[in-house]
Amino acid sequence: MEDQLRSIVDRAHEAARTASDVAALAAVESSFLGKKGELTLLLRGLGALPKEERPAFGKLVNEAKVRLEELLADRSRDLESVALEAALGGDGFDPTEPGLEVSHGSLHPITQITRELVRVFEGLGFAAARGPEVEFEHFNFDALNIPASHPARDTQDTFWLSDGNLLRTHTSPVQVRAMERFGAPLRVIAPGRCFRNEAVDATHEHTFYQMEGLMIDRDISVANLIHVMKTCLREILGREVRIRLRPGFFPFVEPGFELDVHDPFGTGEDRWLELLPCGMVHPNVLRAGGLDPEEWTGFAFGLGLQRLVMIRYGITDIRDFTGGDLRFLEQFGRV
Ligand code: PHE
Repeated sequence: MEDQLRSIVDRAHEAARTASDVAALAAVESSFLGKKGELTLLLRGLGALPKEERPAFGKLVNEAKVRLEELLADRSRDLESVALEAALGGDGFDPTEPGLEVSHGSLHPITQITRELVRVFEGLGFAAARGPEVEFEHFNFDALNIPASHPARDTQDTFWLSDGNLLRTHTSPVQVRAMERFGAPLRVIAPGRCFRNEAVDATHEHTFYQMEGLMIDRDISVANLIHVMKTCLREILGREVRIRLRPGFFPFVEPGFELDVHDPFGTGEDRWLELLPCGMVHPNVLRAGGLDPEEWTGFAFGLGLQRLVMIRYGITDIRDFTGGDLRFLEQFGRV
């Protein structure tokens, strides 16, 4: 029986070595190791041997089986790579190479901060509104207490359309639109794009983003303004911040302020940074919105969104927002 085993092993190995493709190899496997394969049958015929010889011979057959299985696995791998090379046709195209990664893009940091602000202010009872980017002179200027003769118009030079309308210079027109539409009491924010005739540099853009905030009720005071601004900044910057108000002039607020933030980058420096203009809504503006200034008071603020993102991430050039450089944009995470 040992001779028989040796002969089977020799033939099996020879057949495995000379099999020319994967199918031939499978046939070899089945004829030696399959249910009716020669090695299988040999093992089954073990009973014909004297009892004391069975264990030793059984071991031999099993070892032969394992070796043959290993050889078949090796050959199978070889044949597969030969088949692959043939399929490639020698033109260098390799379908097993990882492909180009599909890029999923990310939300622009201005979009991200807008969404965050909307969430924070909705928590404070504000509704988000939108106004048109092409605006009437009335809402952009006159209703905001900026008549045609007012010098404030010079600082807000913009792009005028031939029909007398203009690209809005700020989101403040939404104040009056919201008053007209919803009346008082009112809590509204209005994020959006604004335009000015600016010489572009690291801190000025002709196209920029603001978020207007307006709260009108009975007995609204500067205390309400401070509370809302502190709450907003704590949420957005992720820490408690010190703020201060300095007098600032805008025709549509009285009194008007510049709100400064202390230690703007959270690095421990003892410095104030001007963050946003705000103030108590001017009686003329309330009137323009159809509200009685004897009955209603309110505060308003105008948050520059680029500026806020720049503070949060330490960005130094405002032009990066619209520069289209993916290396810049990708830093704000995939969404
Ligand atoms: N609209 C003003 C600007 O763009 C900012 C502002 C808004 C000031 C609300 C006060 C109150 O310059």
